[in-house]
Amino acid sequence: MKLMHVDASAKRERSNSRSLARFFLDRLSERTSVEVDYLDVAIDTPPHVTEAFAIATYTPEENRTQAMRDTLAHSDALCRRLLQADALVFAMPMYNFSIPSAFKAFVDNIVRTNITYKQAVDGSYVGQLERQKTLFITTRGADLRPGGPLAAYDALTPSLRAAFGFIGVSSPWFVDAQPLQFADQEAREAALARARAELDEVAVEWAEGN
Ligand SMILES: Cc1cc2nc3c(=O)[nH]c(=O)nc-3n(C[C@H](O)[C@H](O)[C@H](O)COP(=O)(O)O)c2cc1C
Repeated sequence: MKLMHVDASAKRERSNSRSLARFFLDRLSERTSVEVDYLDVAIDTPPHVTEAFAIATYTPEENRTQAMRDTLAHSDALCRRLLQADALVFAMPMYNFSIPSAFKAFVDNIVRTNITYKQAVDGSYVGQLERQKTLFITTRGADLRPGGPLAAYDALTPSLRAAFGFIGVSSPWFVDAQPLQFADQEAREAALARARAELDEVAVEWAEGN
């Protein structure tokens, strides 16, 4: 399968989200053949939204100037990479209860009218990424699991569900490793072990074509 893998942690060798994503790709590759298209948004951060982008993106394609097309070229290319993939793996830490800003810049580049979502004649929106299996691997310092006292602070999960749901990712997989920082060593190790076990299950499911 063709898989697009995006990392977003500011940390490199010490990053838990990067290492969990590598773990998942290793497990998946043991079971099926995987061709990876890799993007590190902490290094190759997509351009932030500018005034030129905001105008160009909502200008109908046939009315765009060459300058507008140039402005959108990077975002067009990112959208193409997503659409060409069979599967998507996004690994990121929680920063201040939500997604890292570098990943938000990526999201702002890939939610695109007439590319990753279209409008039907009845006015409804049709996401174009329905085909892509999608896995979000998130790492959190605290424990924000549902039912716990910090659950209400999780603005990351709803934000990913909204943006990606809109472009067609209706049933993503989530593996959330938590708590990885603000807890004792035993709790951190248990959280990593739980996440690896869940990733192993997702790898089996994906390799079996589910
Ligand atoms: C700037 C910053 C903000 C953070 N904000 C949160 C937060 O809001 N909630 C949380 O649970 N952990 C927070 N953390 C902790 C990280 O989410 C946690 O250490 C995670 O495991 C980092 O993933 P990584 O190892 O892939 O970088 C924050 C860390 C940093 C550096």
